[in-house]
Amino acid sequence: MDLVNSKVKSSGIVIIDYGSQYTQLITRRVREAGVFSEIVHHGASVERILENKPRGIILSGGPNSVFSKDAPRLNEKILELGVPILGICYGMQLLTQAFGGEVSPANKGEYGFAEVTVKSDSKLFEGLDAHQGLNVWMSHGDSVMRTGESFINIGSSANTPCAAYESQSHFIYGLQFHPEVTHTQEGDKIIGNFLFSICGCEKNWMMGDLVTQLVDEIRKEVGNEKVLLGLSGGVDSSVVAALVHKAIGSQLTCVFVDNGLLRLNEAQQVIETFGQSMGSELIFIDAADEFLGNLVGVVDPEEKRKIIGKTFIEVFDREAEKLSDISWLAQGTIYPDVIESAGVDNGGVAHVIKSHHNVGGLPDDMNLKLLEPLRSFFKDEVRSLGRELGLSNMVVDRHPFPGPGLGVRILNEVSKASADTLREADHIFIEELIKEDLYKKVSQAFAVFLPVKSVGVMGDGRAYANVIALRAVETTDFMTANWARLPYDFLEKVSLRIINEVQGVSRVVYDVSGKPPATIEWE
Ligand code: XMP
Repeated sequence: MDLVNSKVKSSGIVIIDYGSQYTQLITRRVREAGVFSEIVHHGASVERILENKPRGIILSGGPNSVFSKDAPRLNEKILELGVPILGICYGMQLLTQAFGGEVSPANKGEYGFAEVTVKSDSKLFEGLDAHQGLNVWMSHGDSVMRTGESFINIGSSANTPCAAYESQSHFIYGLQFHPEVTHTQEGDKIIGNFLFSICGCEKNWMMGDLVTQLVDEIRKEVGNEKVLLGLSGGVDSSVVAALVHKAIGSQLTCVFVDNGLLRLNEAQQVIETFGQSMGSELIFIDAADEFLGNLVGVVDPEEKRKIIGKTFIEVFDREAEKLSDISWLAQGTIYPDVIESAGVDNGGVAHVIKSHHNVGGLPDDMNLKLLEPLRSFFKDEVRSLGRELGLSNMVVDRHPFPGPGLGVRILNEVSKASADTLREADHIFIEELIKEDLYKKVSQAFAVFLPVKSVGVMGDGRAYANVIALRAVETTDFMTANWARLPYDFLEKVSLRIINEVQGVSRVVYDVSGKPPATIEWE
């Protein structure tokens, strides 16, 4: 679906994608700054790159090493366009080689926070609050060792002598770190400097028009055909429901499937609250036995995701057939689902992290066409859209819940018994977070069922029962995340309640891993 607002096409930025997990984040930062941006594949022709008359070009990072034989290369014709170019990470290394500099292969990579010192008189770093000890996010193996002629080094860290450079005569800028990631201090200012001081862009792209634009797109795409929507009760599918309902009204039918992997009382809640407020038809299907049956004996996380996704589609297909005249399946797929399932929109150059069920599990012979209006957006943008559409805070502020549900929070084989145990433990954790006013302070919190037993002592007896892990993270875009520093007293209270109230649990642990290197969900 093309979200481009034709009025503001000229004067924007083209982002050339080399397969970074963060490419869409770059677009998003540019959009947030009020500038139109579009992503093109690294193989795009110069004509395509110039199609919307960009004022600047950004080369994304990527998972490859510039030394690997099959790595994507720079289209050197873009260097002759006279348009400023900013290379980020892999993009910077490509520019280095193109201008006769030297990149050295990784003997040790740098992943995570680094402190850089940057030159205050560089256009890229003008007006920053900190020029020394600037906290940035690095994620690279290879490094720039020597720049080409006419380039000056404008930033360095302990491990990376050339963390930033510029050549004003060639209009070329390079950053080894990722300014687009929220963890990079003043990253938005650095991007703003590139857009406004270096490229001379104008602020003329507004998020406010987005609902109208999306509604128009949906109307055009769907015409007078009928749409079936799988509602999960989560933010994404609720926003899609509201959006599609606004666009086509009674042509939309919502289906809510109980897959046996929902949170405690979830089915009831969705039927009561959402069904009433939406005003469109809601069909409830209890398919718990079918899902749990298909998962018997399956332990591989990717296989589980695919089975759950496939079962969803089978259930929907069956329902659509009963309704006879349905042509579309609407899904709440958002950008991180797409990119972590291997960059469907960018020619598959990003590496697979996980197959998100509403992207990776679709069978080739599916009978319905897909409608995924949120596919380019991040969670917090989806929340803003939800508010704009008038959804209640309860729906909009709810923590995200993955499509495969508890299926990816029960490690190894899934069973009804482990799902029941996990539901109770998870409910206690969330209930306490709400009670202590911590729910809105963390971005996502949940419990995980570990298929290992540990020894405990309860009363006077020996207990030998399962372990529950608690996970709470802070993030804005869910692409990177910190583990939430919840108070010890709070964790103790939750642990005690779970061990005392949930049968079959003798130990509770807290997950202290960030993303990266861990992911938010455990599978
Ligand atoms: P990860 O585990 O990839 O999670 O760091 C990032 C965010 O995505 C959610 N998630 C999913 N959402 N279908 C979804 O709709 C999925 O298959 C899926 N897997 C993970 C996760 O809960 C977190 O918010």
